This record gives sequence, C-alpha cells and structure tokens, in this order.
Amino acid sequence: MAKRNLAVVTGASSGIGLELARLAAEHAYDLVIAADEDLAVVADELRGTGSEVVTVVADLATVDGVDRLCEAVRDRGRVPDLLMANAGHGLGHAFFDQRFEEWRHVIDTNITGTIYLIQKLGPDMCGQGSGRILITGSIAGFMPGTFQAVYNGTKAFIDSFSFALRNEIKDSGVTVTCLMPGPTETNFFRRADLMDTKVGQQEKDDAAYVARVGFDAMMRGEGDVVAGWKNKLQATIANVTPASVLAEQHRRMAEPGSGKP
Ligand SMILES: NC(=O)c1ccc[n+]([C@@H]2O[C@H](COP(=O)([O-])OP(=O)(O)OC[C@H]3O[C@@H](n4cnc5c(N)ncnc54)[C@H](OP(=O)(O)O)[C@@H]3O)[C@@H](O)[C@H]2O)c1
Repeated sequence: MAKRNLAVVTGASSGIGLELARLAAEHAYDLVIAADEDLAVVADELRGTGSEVVTVVADLATVDGVDRLCEAVRDRGRVPDLLMANAGHGLGHAFFDQRFEEWRHVIDTNITGTIYLIQKLGPDMCGQGSGRILITGSIAGFMPGTFQAVYNGTKAFIDSFSFALRNEIKDSGVTVTCLMPGPTETNFFRRADLMDTKVGQQEKDDAAYVARVGFDAMMRGEGDVVAGWKNKLQATIANVTPASVLAEQHRRMAEPGSGKP
C-alpha cells in the first residue's frame, strides 16, 4: 500500500492546532502531533479518519522538547509534507508584573522553539523538493501590545521571519505561509490570564474557521493570510497608524479589568 503523506502539527491539543490536525486527517495525512499535555483523546479521534497518529508530549519551549518531536518524525523514516508550527501562548498584565520565567517561556515557545523546529525539519523538506510550512503568527504582530507586550513582540518576530524564510527558500518547492488570526475562541485568553479584559470578553472568531482559512492558504502556497474581513481591515489600518496610537488602542483592549469576567 502506498505511504500516505505526513503532517506535523504543534499545539494540536486544542484551539487552532486541533482544528489544523483535524483538517490534515480529513485530507488523508498521517500525523505527528505535539503539545505539552496529554494528547491521547485527540489522537483517538484523529485515528478514526484512518490516519496513523503519533503523539509527542513535550514542552516545545525547550531544545529537548523540540528534539524529541523531531526524533519522533525521523523514527518513522519520513520527511513531513506539511509542517504546521502553531504552538504558542500569550501572557497578559503589565510587563513589570510578569515574572521572568513566565515571559521567557512565551519567547521560548513562540520564537525559539518554533524556529528551531522549522530549522530542524525544513531542510529535509527542501531536500525532498516539496512541502508546505504553516506558521501561526498573529495580527497582534502589527501592533505594540500594551499589557501583552512580550507576546505581541513574539508575533511581530514570527510574522517577519515567515516572509524572510519564504523568500530564502523560494526555489526549493517548499512554501512558507503565515496564518495571522485575530481574536479566536480558544484556550488562549484563559491561559494568558486575559479573561477580565475587553479582548478576553469580546466575541471571537471560530477556531475551525480560522484553521480552515490557514490550511487552505498553506495548500495554495500563499505568503500570508489574515482570517476574517474585520481583522483584514484592522491589519490594513494598523499599517498606516502611528505605533503610539496603536499602543493606546491595545491598552483599551488588554488592560486588566477592561472587560467583565
Ligand atoms: N486565540 C487567538 O485569539 C489567537 C490569535 C492569534 C494567534 N493565535 C496563535 O494561535 C496559536 C494557537 O493558539 P490557540 O489560540 O489555539 O490557543 P490554545 O487553545 O491555548 O492552543 C495552544 C496550543 O499550543 C500548545 N502549547 C502552548 N505552549 C506550548 C509549549 N511550550 N509546548 C508545547 N505545546 C504548547 C498548547 O498545548 P497544551 O494545551 O498542551 O498546553 C495548545 O495545544 C498560538 O500560536 C497563538 O499565539 C491565537
């Protein structure tokens, strides 16, 4: 029997990553999925579509965690056809109130772990001469994130990095797509302790919809995609708005107590 193609999805235990994994399974990919909590239930569900599923429970903020994920891929003697580097998390509150270990974990997950993973698996994909990389950035990368300063900075990095890597490997047969969601209904806001903020309380996009927009753009090999017309408008306006104004707008969205929990 012919081998099925392989998709690697990080942050597949919930939210956008879970939906990306579901889409890959629907498209008949085998899967290596990773998160830092148990993935047994998710894996059982995905196997129901006929996909082979390998789980890796690892802290992807660490070199060891990313190495273990890459070993799980290589142990199968496979090069990924799809690499969806999606794992990430936020951190609300004023920077001076955040602990070093907390904000460092945001940087280590969203930036270091993400690009280390891509650097470890991407060259084999280029060697194979085909493949798709999807990185979950954010429209948060367009604006200074008052009361989520470190997180927005990590997403500005990812949004930028994604386009640079895309250009570097443009002749390889592998494309890089940056998915830039706006506020999306997932565990993100609870985990980042943003539930008492306006953005934490506002109506949000559906994670399955956001994932589909990203998945489709990745399959088409597009450079970036902002999910939803309101977010597209916000991203366009952000491009021509002074950073100080954006920072003040972000304060209104993310200041602790700005929304009713
Ligand atoms: N929700 C939004 O409004 C929004 C908007 C723009 C961009 N994003 C981005 O979308 C991506 C997915 O987030 P989400 O909204 O779907 O939130 P989510 O439901 O909290 O999912 C985050 C996923 O990432 C995993 N993860 C986080 N840190 C990890 C680490 N150090 N090691 C391993 N796994 C880790 C989580 O695993 P565990 O559950 O096992 O911890 C979970 O599977 C993130 O990169 C986020 O920054 C979200």
